[in-house]
Amino acid sequence: MAVTVRTGRRGGEGISGGCRHAAMSPARSRLLVNHHVSVLPEEARPGPAVTAFHRRLPGYAVTPLRDLPELAAATGVGRVLVKDESSRMGLPAFKILGASWATYRVLCERLGGEPAWETLDDLAAVVAERLGPLRLVTATDGNHGRAVARMARLLGLDALILVPEGTAEARIEGIASEGAAVDVVPGTYDDAVRVAAELAGERDVVVSDTSWPGYEDPPRWVAEGYATIFAEVEDQAPAPPDVVVVPLGVGALGAAAGACLRAGLSPAEGPLLVGVEPESAACVAAAVEAGHVVEVPGPHRSIMAGLNCGLASLLALPTLTATFGAFVAVDDDRCRAAVRALASAGLDVGETGAAALAGLTALVEDHRDELPVPGRATVLLLVTEGVTDPAGFERIVGRPPRR
Ligand SMILES: Cc1ncc(COP(=O)(O)O)c(C=O)c1O
Repeated sequence: MAVTVRTGRRGGEGISGGCRHAAMSPARSRLLVNHHVSVLPEEARPGPAVTAFHRRLPGYAVTPLRDLPELAAATGVGRVLVKDESSRMGLPAFKILGASWATYRVLCERLGGEPAWETLDDLAAVVAERLGPLRLVTATDGNHGRAVARMARLLGLDALILVPEGTAEARIEGIASEGAAVDVVPGTYDDAVRVAAELAGERDVVVSDTSWPGYEDPPRWVAEGYATIFAEVEDQAPAPPDVVVVPLGVGALGAAAGACLRAGLSPAEGPLLVGVEPESAACVAAAVEAGHVVEVPGPHRSIMAGLNCGLASLLALPTLTATFGAFVAVDDDRCRAAVRALASAGLDVGETGAAALAGLTALVEDHRDELPVPGRATVLLLVTEGVTDPAGFERIVGRPPRR
């Protein structure tokens, strides 16, 4: 399908986040310890409907939880468990969980309630008959857009996916391979979000994973969709983890982690949640520190492409603030080291997928004094992405990814 390069406007002037991170040399990571952790009400925990929905989808299977003792030894913690989202329902990232649930809920809303359906073909027929031709639209830095494009294909709908300039060719091809039209928007991911928002209309249904004033339901459903990851971990983990490390882009996955793992707990109880961001796009830490969403200006050129966001999700921010104990910002060299370490441990993953391990190594190497991770701790890493840019993987690891 067509890949178009837009010649639209660039984004507005940003306000720097200005995080008060620990003093550091340029090569060090930055840590923000969050002193605003509070009790998230129990009602914030998503119900069982989400996972029940996913179980009905073609190709649904529980993703592996891997115990990697070599990484525990390398980082000096008791145990490292990796929730391996490198392949989820045939796609190389977890994002289909949110895109599928949000698309379904958006369509149900337009239909005025949940229709009866056995297969997605049944659902597609109901949508075609009662809603006519629709186009799913979203901005993406890769994975969410491909997932929305996949849902459109499964439901017989059109899709238009907006990516920021600089998006790796392989990721654009991945989206186009779902049959979607791809527009390349000048500027950052946040600029692509603004263009997508303006397209919303009768025929164009925006299924965004980030929120802005007046646009909150679809991103809420996207985050709810990620609950399936944590429902699976609950069944799989030998014991509840002490520390959970989560890569953060706009913060929707983080909000899901907070709601699923910390709802109803006091700040002293339960796992410590740590968010990881690229140092050039640490928009969640900036927002948590400021108490409101602030724009971290681009260009956001980290190799952790899925985390190249300058604006945290408005909707996710209160949950992230209430549930994340710390945020660590890492550079690309640390990410490359994490990609190599995971590859040696037998897991070939993309750069964004390796961010959680990069965050853990930053914590144990740079921030032992401010935030010690106990030597007996069980650490859960969310490895959210497989290899989505094989050329990039080969540059880092020195061999092509294993199939
Ligand atoms: C592979 C991967 N991991 C993590 C994230 C971060 O998710 P969120 O934007 O919900 O914070 C993304 C976002 O695109 C992603 O693609």
